[in-house]
Amino acid sequence: MMRPRPEAEIAAPYLRPLALLSEAHVKGQAKLSALEAAMKALQNGERASGVKGLEEALGFFDTDLARHFKHEENALFPPLIRAVGRGGPVGAMMEEHQSLWRSIDRLTEQVEAMAMSESGPSPKELTLLKQVVEHILWLLRSHIQKEDTMLFPLALQHLSSSDWREVEAEMERPG
Ligand SMILES: [Fe+2]
Repeated sequence: MMRPRPEAEIAAPYLRPLALLSEAHVKGQAKLSALEAAMKALQNGERASGVKGLEEALGFFDTDLARHFKHEENALFPPLIRAVGRGGPVGAMMEEHQSLWRSIDRLTEQVEAMAMSESGPSPKELTLLKQVVEHILWLLRSHIQKEDTMLFPLALQHLSSSDWREVEAEMERPG
């Protein structure tokens, strides 16, 4: 009698890497809502909870988001570039990653300055902060939507089983 094959061998090779990337998007959406709420709290004069929420969002960007971008840039994008080229959607996603880091750096500077100042944020500081937060919310939400609806389907269309196994191995590499 044949022994049943382990589930991992039977499962389609794209399932696990795509599930991990999609899960990170769902978690990212939730963190963006928390960032939005923290900004509202600050505008309502709730300085302590607002600053705490902004710092938590920055912590998330620094860890989970950085790891997720690494998964995409080092694991998913290389085989996709081999299949469809560097320009077009893959290049656009890489540019958006860079653009996001620039905005996150600006937010980090503003939050650090605000956390150190004795008085609450001035109306001008609050306006500048709101601008950068709104930009990040818009950019990351639309970025996630483009990846979910366009980039992942493109990868499903073009990557082979062995590509997907490489994607998964690269994503699981420590560090
Ligand atoms: Fe992503």
